[in-house]
Amino acid sequence: VQIIQSPSEMQCVARDLARPMAFVPTMGALHGGHLALVSRAHDLVRSGGTVAASIFINPTQFGPGEDLQQYPRSFDRDCQLLDTAGCKVVFAPAPEAMYAADASVTVRERFLSQTLCGLARPGHFDGVCLVVAKLFHLLQPDFALFGQKDFQQLAIIRRIVRDLNFAVNIVAVPTVREPDGLALSSRNAYLSKDERQQASVLYRVLQGAADKWRRGDVTRAEIEDWMAAQLRQAPLARVDYAVAVDPATLQPTSDLTCPVLLAVAVFFGKTRLIDNYLLP
Ligand code: PAF
Repeated sequence: VQIIQSPSEMQCVARDLARPMAFVPTMGALHGGHLALVSRAHDLVRSGGTVAASIFINPTQFGPGEDLQQYPRSFDRDCQLLDTAGCKVVFAPAPEAMYAADASVTVRERFLSQTLCGLARPGHFDGVCLVVAKLFHLLQPDFALFGQKDFQQLAIIRRIVRDLNFAVNIVAVPTVREPDGLALSSRNAYLSKDERQQASVLYRVLQGAADKWRRGDVTRAEIEDWMAAQLRQAPLARVDYAVAVDPATLQPTSDLTCPVLLAVAVFFGKTRLIDNYLLP
């Protein structure tokens, strides 16, 4: 795999890559969820195109007091995994190369980012929007792949692409889970043994809520209360949100309509886990 650190070199190399090119942006600490993105990228480009990835722990999407310093780093292992998975190029810039010290331009989404995780993490999605826009400019991918676990991020990125006319197809890839249902996430590494054991509650509750919603015998308020109460049964869980929203707008949905997105965010200690269930 070719590792590129300089943004301008990345821009030049990208122009000559075999097309179509499918791009998997990551912050490293790769797990099976990322490899599922790479695998789907290969399906999209078939044998003629290129699969590229980035590894960049983007400082602008971490708020003050968040885990930027502790975020797991495993660069050599990540590059090996990407190489084995058939990735041709890895873009891995230093933060100073991506952001001038006096950078003063930003990219902000002002609707979808104002709810759910945007409430607990002010500024987070501004950082995501900025870095994704920069990465799209540098690599000019034909496809970019994102996990459905970060449903709000995915929705916001689709909105950037639409509103800023990026010529890239955004491809959503289903969440990859541990055998007990916990969604794979680089942040799972922070969990203690007890927290890890209890963290499977997120998906169990989402599945239970989806069953209730399908049966059609609950209102939105009832299902949200039920999810929060069930999550609290895990003694180490602190619920941030447990909601039923319209997947197109991320606003509270009407009772008993579909599609609906059931979404939860739960703290275990300082670790904030998110998960969701889409009923189409
Ligand atoms: O989902 C992530 O890993 C990050 O938010 C992303 C999209 C790579 C931007 O830094």
